[in-house]
Amino acid sequence: MSASPPLFVVLAAGKGTRMKSAEPKVLHKIAGRSMLAHVLETAKTIDGAGLSVVVGPEMEAVVRETRAVAPGAEVFVQTAQRGTADAVLAARSALDRHSGDVIVLYADTPLIRPETLQRLQKALDAGANIAVLGFRPKNPTGYGRLVTDSKGTLLAIREEKDASQAERQIAICNSGVLAFRVPKINDLLSHIGNSNAKGEFYLTDAIELARAVGLVATVVECDADEVLGVNARDQLAAAEAIWQTRARLALMRDGVTMIAPETVWLSFDTKIAPDVVIEPNVVFGLGVTVEEGATILGFCHLTGAMIGKGARVGPFSRFRPGAKLGPDVHIGNFVEVKNVSLGAGAKANHLSYLGDGSVGSKANIGAGTIFCNYDGFNKQKTEIGEGAFIGSNTSLVAPVRIGAGAYIGSGSVITKDVSPGALALERVSQEERPGWAEKFRTLMTRRKAEKS
Ligand code: UD1
Ligand code: CA
Repeated sequence: MSASPPLFVVLAAGKGTRMKSAEPKVLHKIAGRSMLAHVLETAKTIDGAGLSVVVGPEMEAVVRETRAVAPGAEVFVQTAQRGTADAVLAARSALDRHSGDVIVLYADTPLIRPETLQRLQKALDAGANIAVLGFRPKNPTGYGRLVTDSKGTLLAIREEKDASQAERQIAICNSGVLAFRVPKINDLLSHIGNSNAKGEFYLTDAIELARAVGLVATVVECDADEVLGVNARDQLAAAEAIWQTRARLALMRDGVTMIAPETVWLSFDTKIAPDVVIEPNVVFGLGVTVEEGATILGFCHLTGAMIGKGARVGPFSRFRPGAKLGPDVHIGNFVEVKNVSLGAGAKANHLSYLGDGSVGSKANIGAGTIFCNYDGFNKQKTEIGEGAFIGSNTSLVAPVRIGAGAYIGSGSVITKDVSPGALALERVSQEERPGWAEKFRTLMTRRKAEKS
């Protein structure tokens, strides 16, 4: 029998009414990536595999997502939702062209692992014609039950609505993931009828039909977490939690310290190097890289940022796309960095907005410094040279350049470029009136007494 690469058929045509969403269900995200993309990425890990995605009518957004994640995938439209067997048959022409194994995946079951797909293929290699991925959920309500004989051979899958009282007691359930190695899968599926409680064409009926023509079906068991099906928002949150737990564990195994891992939120593409220490309550949005030995103190929020080797950021710092921190940069509390690169050892330790521009190495940005980057129409750049010292409460009105090693006096509003090594001050010079305070108090005390 064939051990050539399989064809994956990913079912994504469901409306997902229980999500109560304007968006198709399979585009809802886990760790910042759609459920559909999670499934497609997993399928793509199997070398040479073909990909067919079955979508519902008017699901352009699902088609776009498919094209973006798996440009080689074929998209098929299931015109009406007549059940899972009918959905697979929407990809009939791809099935006709393919002679190897066929594996059906659900786009609303996003946590399945590549190793599990390989176990299904092994079950086929061991002689089964159909391998069904089964699991034992804490609460089996709503799932199809796997009916087996005393030797564990799979006899049938019974949907809950069609199951007898005795069948409902079965603990092992259908995940929905099925692998086929049958001569003509289209023929087998075409024989499936719809005389059942829902009046749908059930893919699960393939088991009994296959057995009737002498084919063998078997069960491969996996962890319940891996095949959690997402039908509603609480399950979406549960799937997110499972994904996060997995990802945190993987990072810790790779040498990342997390003091309270359950409070650190990661995205699918977060990259964190060994010996990074992450304090509690840190959120990594999309596109973040953290290099070796950096420390992320509590309550930081990062997206599209690069944190260099040995840098120390937080607590309470925010990094937005284009924030690029060189080695040993320090960013402190209530500092927001967007689209700014900072050279090695630069510091901005308190209460600042650094938006659009660059900061040279070892420059020091005082508390309350603002890059005034926006005039209501355009964004402009602030460029600060190496070793420059920006006094506290400085407004740098972009476009503006501060030369290397220059000093800016506190409280200045800097609108013109400053030469290297210069001191720039922009404020009224201080005046002093000796003895003024005592005279003022005496005057005010007298006036108050006169009134009462
Ligand atoms: C299905 C299985 C059930 C299993 C459960 C696991 C059948 C008949 N039942 O039930 O045994 O325990 O999944 O979660 O297969 N879809 C289409 N077109 C359709 C119908 C469904 O593309 O016409 C897609 C959906 O988008 C979804 C998947 O198929 O991705 C499963 O459909 P759903 O209606 O959620 O099936 P369940 O009732 O959950
Ligand atoms: Ca489902």
